Amino acid sequence: MGKERFLNFQDPEKNHERVLKILQIAESSPRIRYFLRKIFAYQDPKLEVDLFGLHFTNPVGLAAGFDKNCQVPKALASFGFGHIEVGTVTPLSQEGNPRPRIWKLVEDRAVINWMGMPNVGVEEFTRNLNEVAERDFILGINIGKSEVTSLEDASTDYKVLFKKTHSYGDYIAINVSSPNTPELRRLQRKEFLLDLIKEIKRSGELTPILLKIDPDLSYSQIDDILTIALNCKIDGIIATNTTVSRENLKSKNRNKPGGLSGVPLRNKSTEIIRYLYRQTKASLPIIGVGGIFNAEDALEKIKAGASLVQVYTGFVFDPLKGPFVAKSINKELSKVLETEKARSIGELVGRE
Ligand SMILES: Cc1cc2nc3c(=O)[nH]c(=O)nc-3n(C[C@H](O)[C@H](O)[C@H](O)COP(=O)(O)O)c2cc1C
Repeated sequence: MGKERFLNFQDPEKNHERVLKILQIAESSPRIRYFLRKIFAYQDPKLEVDLFGLHFTNPVGLAAGFDKNCQVPKALASFGFGHIEVGTVTPLSQEGNPRPRIWKLVEDRAVINWMGMPNVGVEEFTRNLNEVAERDFILGINIGKSEVTSLEDASTDYKVLFKKTHSYGDYIAINVSSPNTPELRRLQRKEFLLDLIKEIKRSGELTPILLKIDPDLSYSQIDDILTIALNCKIDGIIATNTTVSRENLKSKNRNKPGGLSGVPLRNKSTEIIRYLYRQTKASLPIIGVGGIFNAEDALEKIKAGASLVQVYTGFVFDPLKGPFVAKSINKELSKVLETEKARSIGELVGRE
């Protein structure tokens, strides 16, 4: 029993659930959040970013998947993030894949997850969204099709999700890039993507729509996506989700199934950001995500073309340093702006 408890303690998902429970206390206490901000947040007006008609207090956000059910966004924002992306939410509640389904790759500073989008479903999710109506940070909502929905019917799922959630969030992220829902990534192909986006756009609502893409696409597939994104006036691209590739890994968990995040993903996602930025001649805003642990990593993505960045693995990997990740990135970026004599982050975007 003792050993079992110890192993449970080691399970990253169990740890995650414990952390969510603690964050729930902060979620309902403005006083605790105030103190968390004092410890973990860093402010500098030069870090503010205006994008998609939204005002971000700093360029560092928390990526989708940490707060899948929108239970603790206020608590998370008090760790100094300028935006929090909640979800992925699907129309129906779903269990996801059997556990264990998250593995830490300690030596590689990486995580493999095979979650399969477990979440409470959009009805309960919108009740949670209602609790965050008043907020001082940007809230993104990441949406995905149910695992039981066929690719042919997927556009209906996204349309319904958009309709039910858009008025609660500042932007909507369309997830067609998680590797753990069978065939989901095929929705990035032009024959599906065009319909899907048209269907969502038909509502005529003005909430910004961002498309989250995977890092395993070929450049010609990215070109197809860009053609559609520009023609349909998508507001931005989130690059990237986790990768299915497994190159040069050392850790014993390297052959687990699912999507790989963290350091081994870093260069791959930066290359995609650089390509997107150049191909679109900077006309399509990019949120850069993949392997960011510190300011140097964030700056690399900004200089490759990202207007904002997001972190996931860097926030959870090291329990001591992780909670300070937004603060340390923002603090360092502030210094970089000073030394490069730039007035805003915007001046550094794409400046390689
Ligand atoms: C445990 C885990 C769960 C995730 N869940 C989602 C998700 O539900 N939706 C999504 O779009 N991305 C999800 N992601 C991907 C992250 O949002 C991010 O794109 C990816 O991890 C790369 O960033 P990182 O290297 O900073 O972690 C998840 C990542 C991890 C590690």
